Amino acid sequence: MCGIFGYLGPQNNASEMAIDGLKNLEYRGYDSWGVACKNENGDLLLEKHIGKISEADDLRPEILDSINHLAIGHSRWATHGGVTDQNAHPHLSHSGNIALVHNGIVENYVELREELKKDGFEFKSETDTETIVHLIEKYVSEVGFEEGVKKAVKRLEGRYAFLAIHKEEEKMIAARTGSPLIVGVGPLDNEYFLGSDVPAFYKHTKRVMYLDDEQMVIIDNSGIRFFNTKTDEAIEKRVVELTLDIESAEKGKYAHFMLKEIMEQKDTLSRAINQEPELIEGMAQAIEDARGTFLIGCGTAGKVALTGSYLFSRIAKKHVNFTFGSEFASYQDFLTDKTLLLSISQSGETADTLEAIEVAQKKGVKIASIVNVESSTMARISDLVIPIKAGPEKAVASTKATTSQMAILTLLAYACAGKLNEGQQLLAATAGKINDMLNPRYEDHIKALADKIVDVESMYIIGKGLNYPMALEAAIKLQEVSYIHAEGFAGGELKHGPIALITEGVPCIAIVANDETRSDILSNAMEIKARGGYIIGVSPENSEIFDYWIKVPDAGNASPIVNIIPIQILAYHLAIGRENNPDMPRNLAKSVTVK
Ligand code: M6R
Repeated sequence: MCGIFGYLGPQNNASEMAIDGLKNLEYRGYDSWGVACKNENGDLLLEKHIGKISEADDLRPEILDSINHLAIGHSRWATHGGVTDQNAHPHLSHSGNIALVHNGIVENYVELREELKKDGFEFKSETDTETIVHLIEKYVSEVGFEEGVKKAVKRLEGRYAFLAIHKEEEKMIAARTGSPLIVGVGPLDNEYFLGSDVPAFYKHTKRVMYLDDEQMVIIDNSGIRFFNTKTDEAIEKRVVELTLDIESAEKGKYAHFMLKEIMEQKDTLSRAINQEPELIEGMAQAIEDARGTFLIGCGTAGKVALTGSYLFSRIAKKHVNFTFGSEFASYQDFLTDKTLLLSISQSGETADTLEAIEVAQKKGVKIASIVNVESSTMARISDLVIPIKAGPEKAVASTKATTSQMAILTLLAYACAGKLNEGQQLLAATAGKINDMLNPRYEDHIKALADKIVDVESMYIIGKGLNYPMALEAAIKLQEVSYIHAEGFAGGELKHGPIALITEGVPCIAIVANDETRSDILSNAMEIKARGGYIIGVSPENSEIFDYWIKVPDAGNASPIVNIIPIQILAYHLAIGRENNPDMPRNLAKSVTVK
């Protein structure tokens, strides 16, 4: 959430680089954007606008005309204060000498703002961010820029990352606790970038230094220095060389990243399962050794985690607890140093999941993660990591990461049952089936359905057993990109209340796997049909109950993986039919780094 960019170096178009870098961070927030730079006369220039930075080209921002070696930028996902130019970042200090961009939440901002107001600081925005920049200015007047920032950081509570520059200094100062911030090094001498994520600067460098929680970095013409924000002790850091597949972060022939990423599932499953067997067996062993395993994730990753609990029960006869990352703290009394926490995340930066990990780590719990972004905080703080290798996922709606995460969990469940080979064979066969399924005719068949139901107000999805979590996931997918009111249920739960929602013609997707749940879920679909519902069956076999059949391959225990794909395609085409941007849905951001 919110993208931060910073540049200090010999190139004289820092503001242009900021705008370019922010475009690659737009998935993190896209309600407004802004850039501040220091020009050749030593003035701080500031430009901010509501709207998407990808639409900024027509504006021809004045800031681009100056010569500047130092710039910071921000793309916003609003937390405190509405979407206005005033609330957009960067924010300036009272004197206008300091500019600052921020991601996260300053939890004690009300108290700080009152204190600063009493000191005569005037607030121009409704943001918590403005308290940081005024607080820094308050201390800068006493102890200078570097020491002022150090003093201010000690007063902040919450999870945040910020980056500040001062009109009279050739310097960038940044600090983080809980929100991501990465330094890009070079390629020129004394050239540094700062970004919330590597795509901010990957065009320029793939050499990075990670800033960890409670750390700050000071970059100036003499180089780079890291400090602990609590103790002010200097910290040594090493440069890490990243290997990134930049091409796969472009849309290519597709109109949207979402469709491209759906179609990439022809290959991503194979990449996910082509792991070193030791990696899978090592994590399976940790699950075997643990006295109690919790599977956690948020949003779609939460639905994947819930699927995992069914997979372990079904395949490995193992009880694994499931909870959403944001709810995990309620279970902390059950944690011991023998517990294992298995966290699922695409970004590896989701604040609710990271906070659950922190809670667990305090109890000595071992952390295992299944992540896509290998350079993420989650990957770095975990004891065991399995990367899903899905490549950059840029559309806000998770698609290819979802199925790859489920593939890894399926392998883990088979490995726990001592049948890794069987799991690998199942998933390899499933990858082949997905490859056959994802053809233009298949997409057209689903698009025809989308055209038929494009104007509906509500949709319901039912599933059972392994596919119950997929009913929940289908609802998220439909909600976030089509904005249709969609709800997922366990089929058997319908008659206990939700069936009252069914009215004539309301579309209901029944996910019908070819397993022991088939007859039950068909009965539930029948109950809906009897009340006028329009039944869309997602199933390997047709049924007279279905008004519309979307055929999926029979994939046995990998059925959740194949069943969600046509619903991803349906959600995409509903979004297009309703003239929504599926890559950047309203109110959302790709990486949710606030609580
Ligand atoms: O990066 P993560 O997998 O941790 O993200 C978790 C959720 O925010 C994410 O899955 C979200 O629900 C997606 N937009 C759903 O498509």
